[in-house]
Amino acid sequence: LGIYLQGVAGAAPDLPMSYAELEARGSAAMDPAVLGYVAGGAGDESTQIANVDAFGQYGLMPRMLVGAAQRDLSIDLVGLRLPSPLLLAPVGVLGVVAEDGDLATARAAAATGVPMIASTLSEAPLERVREEQGGTPGLFQLYPPADRALAESLVGRAEAAGYSAIVITLDTWINGWRPRDLERAYLPMLQGLCLANYLTDPRFRALLAESGGTGGEAAVRLWASLFGNPTMTWDDLAWFRSLTSLPILLKGVCDPDDAKRALDGGMNGIVCSNHGGRQANGGIPAIDCLEPVVAAADGAPVVFDSGVRSGVDVVKALGLGATAVAIGRPYVHGLAVAGQRGVEHVVRSLLAEADLTMAVDGYRDVAALRGEIRRR
Ligand code: FNR
Repeated sequence: LGIYLQGVAGAAPDLPMSYAELEARGSAAMDPAVLGYVAGGAGDESTQIANVDAFGQYGLMPRMLVGAAQRDLSIDLVGLRLPSPLLLAPVGVLGVVAEDGDLATARAAAATGVPMIASTLSEAPLERVREEQGGTPGLFQLYPPADRALAESLVGRAEAAGYSAIVITLDTWINGWRPRDLERAYLPMLQGLCLANYLTDPRFRALLAESGGTGGEAAVRLWASLFGNPTMTWDDLAWFRSLTSLPILLKGVCDPDDAKRALDGGMNGIVCSNHGGRQANGGIPAIDCLEPVVAAADGAPVVFDSGVRSGVDVVKALGLGATAVAIGRPYVHGLAVAGQRGVEHVVRSLLAEADLTMAVDGYRDVAALRGEIRRR
């Protein structure tokens, strides 16, 4: 409605209204190394492309005369009552995309009520990121490091800072084969714009002092040696559980047996995601994994991400059983185009499109969408 009224006053929106335009303007706004990092994926990027294309196989059946004048997009997620089913997926190194990228994104979360899953790899410490999220709840994403005491410290800080849940990412204990980043030797990472949570951590600082290293390069080297934990197995679930009394969701689960195992092991939810095709190439599209994971989760929360590009995609994922849907690259492009305002624009556009789709197709709330997605 805001846009129609603007039109009456003779003004058109200055921000993109289609994903193609958002991507084009976002890409033009980023320098080539940053764009390679944001837009790049594993191998020839066929999984990343398939993630997006696979949404085309699904469609919602329109229903008429159901009185959908008022829609309710609110949801419950791990004890949180949220006004909409959208989340901002954890994206590391946002500081290379825009000035104060993490804080700008956090402010957009505050302004829209859409929770941000704050990445371990941020330019601002997790406490500052949480502060900027204001009254909107936040989740903290942990890349479990090789040092257990460091993981314990990071999770303890997140709990103390007021995050409402922990998302543990399982699929990045080692970096995938990502040509666009390899060609540039992971330059954005090495600029050190993602180490704030480590450099402000007492355990990391103690390890740095022990290593005898000084200066930025020593910190980057220590971080690189600790970043991923290659020995992690299902046996670590009990330890994950012992880290916090906050709800824990495991991210990167695409197999129903893995989902069941996580939930049986005391986890509170799943993030069904293939990391946007950035980690492994050659996999099946993430959206095709969603229904079996939802069935295995048997009522436990399942957040979906990977390939969501529109409000219609949000509706489709909800109809396939997702409790909530997270966006990654779309809001990063918004951030590149117009900072906080760009992220807010992307969030509001996706939500408006999802809401209008439910209106036109005759679905009043998220529960009504369940099971109504047909495969072509
Ligand atoms: C990510 N993703 C990610 N995931 C995570 O758990 N921690 C992180 O720090 C990051 N960092 C990151 C950086 C960039 C540039 C991208 C694009 C993605 C993965 C992210 O949370 C999500 O799974 C994907 O973005 C989903 O894919 P699409 O929809 O963005 O293609």
